Amino acid sequence: MSRLNLDERPVSFGVLVFPGFQALDVFGPLDAFNTLFFAFGAPLKLSIIAESLDPVSTRPRTAPPGASDFDESIVPTHTYDTAPPLDVLIVPGGRGTRDAVTVQRAIEFVGEIYPKLRYLITVCTGAGIAARAGVLDGRRATTNKKSWAGTIALRTQVHWVAHARWVVDGNIWSSSGVSAGLDVTFAFIAEVWGNQTAVDLANVLEYERHTNSSWDPFAELYGLVDPVPVTL
Ligand SMILES: *[C@@H]1O[C@H](CO)[C@@H](O)[C@H](O)[C@H]1NC(C)=O
Ligand SMILES: *[C@@H]1O[C@H](CO)[C@@H](O)[C@H](O)[C@H]1NC(C)=O
Repeated sequence: MSRLNLDERPVSFGVLVFPGFQALDVFGPLDAFNTLFFAFGAPLKLSIIAESLDPVSTRPRTAPPGASDFDESIVPTHTYDTAPPLDVLIVPGGRGTRDAVTVQRAIEFVGEIYPKLRYLITVCTGAGIAARAGVLDGRRATTNKKSWAGTIALRTQVHWVAHARWVVDGNIWSSSGVSAGLDVTFAFIAEVWGNQTAVDLANVLEYERHTNSSWDPFAELYGLVDPVPVTL
């Protein structure tokens, strides 16, 4: 059973992108929602939001010329200035999050739009964007475990949770690194559209979900513990 009636379910989704976004952080969740839309008839709308309407590459802005010729681009539908009202915003991570210039507008946008969102979903180091926007202050959240130290240092007011595949605090759903974005997405779909829809969708995508949000061998791999949050 879903907790939400048909008319309460979120419709308008947005994902923000910046140079050096992590492909799977974006396309893992989007592929699940694409399929929810096409195979299950969920009436969803997607806006792809960036600084301009130019294609946005997985290649970081600061990558040295010639360092890599292996990247993909996504075409935005809106800029941060023209984004429509959203029910759900997905914030991916990736190498671009390490460059403050690259994500400055993304951070501002999350701060501006968060009060009007129904749900915020962060994947991987996308939590660092939300954290710098201040919207995670006093909240429990998780992020990529390989980039743990650098990301949690961005905002000590957050109750960072080390042992978590994902964390739900109020309307903020944050996931651990990269592939964990799929698990938080399925957990979110189970919450909104019901467990059976999430199960059926995972079967369509032939994805073996992690359904225990506390399961986190990567926190163990790096020997991570929860930092003590700064008292607000
Ligand atoms: C979701 O449905 C599956 C398959 O019917 C079942 O095995 C599982 O226990 C259910 N999970 C929850 C949280 O209800
Ligand atoms: C979830 O994972 C945690 C950590 O591995 C474990 O302690 C707990 O028993 C698991 N819960 C369930 C319901 O399997």
